[in-house]
Amino acid sequence: MYKKYEKVKEILKENKQEHLLIWYDKLIEQKREQLLDRILTIDFEQINELYKQAKQKKDFKECKVEPLSYIDKEKLSKEDKEKYEAEGKKEIAEGKYAVVTMAGGQGTRLGHNGPKGTFELEVGEKKPLFTLLAQTIKEANKKYNVTIPWYIMTSRENNYKTTDFFKRHDYFGMGEENIKFFIQNELPMVDVKGKILVDEAGMIKDAADGHGGIFEAMNKDGIIKDMKKRGIKWIFIAGVDNVLAKMVDPILTGLAIENKCLAAGKSVVKSNPKERVGVFCKKDNRPSVIEYTEITDEMAEARDENGELLYGESHILCNLFNIKAIEEIAKNKLPYHSAFKKAKYIDKNGVIVVPEVPNAYKFEAFIFDAFERLDDMAIMRVKREEEFAPVKNAEGVDSPETAAKLYLDYIKNKK
Ligand code: UTP
Repeated sequence: MYKKYEKVKEILKENKQEHLLIWYDKLIEQKREQLLDRILTIDFEQINELYKQAKQKKDFKECKVEPLSYIDKEKLSKEDKEKYEAEGKKEIAEGKYAVVTMAGGQGTRLGHNGPKGTFELEVGEKKPLFTLLAQTIKEANKKYNVTIPWYIMTSRENNYKTTDFFKRHDYFGMGEENIKFFIQNELPMVDVKGKILVDEAGMIKDAADGHGGIFEAMNKDGIIKDMKKRGIKWIFIAGVDNVLAKMVDPILTGLAIENKCLAAGKSVVKSNPKERVGVFCKKDNRPSVIEYTEITDEMAEARDENGELLYGESHILCNLFNIKAIEEIAKNKLPYHSAFKKAKYIDKNGVIVVPEVPNAYKFEAFIFDAFERLDDMAIMRVKREEEFAPVKNAEGVDSPETAAKLYLDYIKNKK
């Protein structure tokens, strides 16, 4: 242990991060060891690079941006709809379909104490988001007479509480062997001077590396292998917080198959040109998403001959991937973006600081950066009121109140 400590000290000195051991003497033996081990896994060069990039003014990559064509589910002919549905159904019923829920986020805007999936939505009775998602998968299992495996991405921070929640709910009767958890990577948060933060427990202040971390995590934790062993070909990936996510969708699957695409995504039409959402597009001839921070007013307002927004297909984090695409994407890291956030930490004098304004950079990868690694992607526009009810904020737009209303209206209309 002493040798390890000396080695860590040396590394920290080289990288001007000596303060990371400030709380070391106050830690119990086991935590000391954990801290040293964590420091030894930090790629300081990477963190330095990310810090430098974060400080630079964001320059959007010069590239050719064009609209990406899409299919409107509502406007599909009866024949096409039936054809896609039949193709997709076949894959699902043959056990080639899996669902992945990304539940590694911190849910800071919602402010719920615990993993977001355990947040209870008032829908007649209080139901946790995980319960609502489980219900959707169970209905599909029944409909297609199959057991669809469910994979859940957690973070180091919420993994225990998430897995414990499922245990306490007896895996919703779906069988423990059919629900698998995997933990995404994390990266240290750094302050405005590039110093890695020490958290309230004296350890490294780490944060989950964004939903784009999913591919690397699936690879590292043997999830891709597990899927292949089960004969899975199509994987639907969505967030934990859209209670209307139609996660088992034969039409989307059929559309991908018919168009020979290794991925497909669902969109809802942007409610107005200024809505703060990312929209599907083509960048240098590859599928992509342009963020609301990147899009020019002119592009946001542009309409086609039918009066539809040219860039109006919002990315709602509901995407389908072929296993081959996931394997390919997982071979190389996605780029990281930085966000400036409030982060509690221990300063170099050993004082806990609770900032009132953002003070630290968090580094995150975005799942949609993976789209650019694909030749093409099939986009299907779906109805917002049928498939998109996000729980993001504690109140106002995209809050439990709006999501519960959308959910209840949907159930009522379905009857
Ligand atoms: P959001 O970007 O809305 O983040 O994630 P969030 O963590 O839920 O909420 P805020 O921004 O802190 O308020 C969209 C989806 O991606 C997942 C989230 O759990 C959510 O389902 N996600 C996000 C991850 O799984 N890991 C991450 O690192 C980030």
